[in-house]
Amino acid sequence: SYVIGANCIDVTDRACLDVCPVDCIYVGERKSYINANECIDCGACEPECPVDAIFVDRNARGDAEKTVFVGDSIAFFTESLPGRDAPLGDPGGAGSVGDLGVDTEFVTAYQA
Ligand code: F3S
Ligand code: F3S
Repeated sequence: SYVIGANCIDVTDRACLDVCPVDCIYVGERKSYINANECIDCGACEPECPVDAIFVDRNARGDAEKTVFVGDSIAFFTESLPGRDAPLGDPGGAGSVGDLGVDTEFVTAYQA
């Protein structure tokens, strides 16, 4: 699957959102997150990001920081986010939930 990494933090350009055919890129507070279960690996988003934040998870091997974002992207959907009772899960489209306005604890605390 494709993953959004550190470069998106505090940028959130959103160009990726416009090209995703399955609307599986969800906007948090400081960054956006791709739902790995909903992503069909089309790759359309990757070249659209002006800060090269998007990468393929298998390319994260051996790269400690990218690996952290692979796990964090899963956590965004599977763990309860601050202020929310239940995990987001797989909503089936970012448009149905809107901007979440919240990040994982890791991203909330992230400092470059
Ligand atoms: Fe969408 Fe990018 Fe996956 S465009 S389907 S998130 S590879
Ligand atoms: Fe972030 Fe790049 Fe998309 S900055 S919101 S991954 S276009």
